Amino acid sequence: MADKKKIYLASPTMHGDELKFIHEAFDTNWVAPLGANVNGFEADMEKYIGHGMHAAALASGTAAIHLAFRLIGLRPGDIVFGSSLTFAATVNPITYDGGVPVFIDSERDSWNMDPRALEAAFEKYPNVKAVICANLYGTPAKLDELEKICEDHGVTFIEDAAESLGATYKGVPTGTFGKFGTLSFNGNKIITTSGGGMLLTHDEEFKKKATFLATQARENERWYEHKEIGFNYRMSNIVAGIGRGQMEFLDEHVALKKKLRDRYAEGFKDIPEIKLNPYIEGSEPNYWLTCMTIEEGSNVSPFDVMDALAADNIETRPIWKPMHMQPVYKDNGFVQVEEGISVSEDIFNRGLCLPSDIKNTEEDMDRIISIIRKCFGK
Ligand SMILES: Cc1ncc(COP(=O)(O)O)c(C=O)c1O
Repeated sequence: MADKKKIYLASPTMHGDELKFIHEAFDTNWVAPLGANVNGFEADMEKYIGHGMHAAALASGTAAIHLAFRLIGLRPGDIVFGSSLTFAATVNPITYDGGVPVFIDSERDSWNMDPRALEAAFEKYPNVKAVICANLYGTPAKLDELEKICEDHGVTFIEDAAESLGATYKGVPTGTFGKFGTLSFNGNKIITTSGGGMLLTHDEEFKKKATFLATQARENERWYEHKEIGFNYRMSNIVAGIGRGQMEFLDEHVALKKKLRDRYAEGFKDIPEIKLNPYIEGSEPNYWLTCMTIEEGSNVSPFDVMDALAADNIETRPIWKPMHMQPVYKDNGFVQVEEGISVSEDIFNRGLCLPSDIKNTEEDMDRIISIIRKCFGK
């Protein structure tokens, strides 16, 4: 195995142009959390997303989510509904200011927050501060339905687009649906800055406030003056340089991710036990991670597939373990509408994330697919 080329789940892909912006930062000594690259990266993102969005570049996606809750004035004890089937960073920031997450189950069409479960949750919990929904694995949720339900209840909708930059729902980019959208440029994302994030908002004032809070809430005085508690959450000018370089390749990355997904679909088309992660008509995912589930009744388990690939030096990952199943959230509420096992738990039990690295060659993909096919006796 040691001499077999390692195939990653999703590793960073640099193109060289990133260095141009980093050099500029060095040449001008602008290596602090402000400068031309920070402004340029924000401007590039605002242009890419369009729809009048303003972007604040931050140290991480988690910071962006935390600031979104700060900006809506989340108070200790406030209930926030969050996707159960997501990475913990979608919902952890709810707790940073004492909020209480209540988890909402998934629907089967996109694996994302189920609008029916969200409706049911509002009946159970009448006083809710906000709803945060992730677009899992780059697949848009039923964003218009979710947004409408939140509107009807007068509750803020926040869209965690950390995994879905470049995806659209009914032609509109993800990250623009809620009052706030959040992005991540973590190492495994569709574009990366090594680490970083952005807060997207329709309101320029919120961008200004987010930037203020992200720079220790420093008042505009000659001395350090603070009337509020702030954070050290701003993105550095070096990191933003990587982002500017990566932006030039965002659409190319999405196209390559789609190619991987199509290759998997072709490779498994004669194996009815395998289904790829679904998406809804009218949505165009960014195909960040291709995942598969194994149909009920199969004698092959996700761990069989993962172990077979690992034995060949190929990385996979289980489906994100739902938040309502996490020990740390064992006392939090959870709302599902399907009888019996929840949809999110069912997907977790039967699924896995497939290698979705855009540097995979045709040979790499053949290698992965043939190992999986063998698991199913093909
Ligand atoms: C759905 C989701 N939300 C939030 C985050 C947090 O982003 P970051 O790692 O940049 O803090 C991530 C990724 O890490 C994520 O996958």
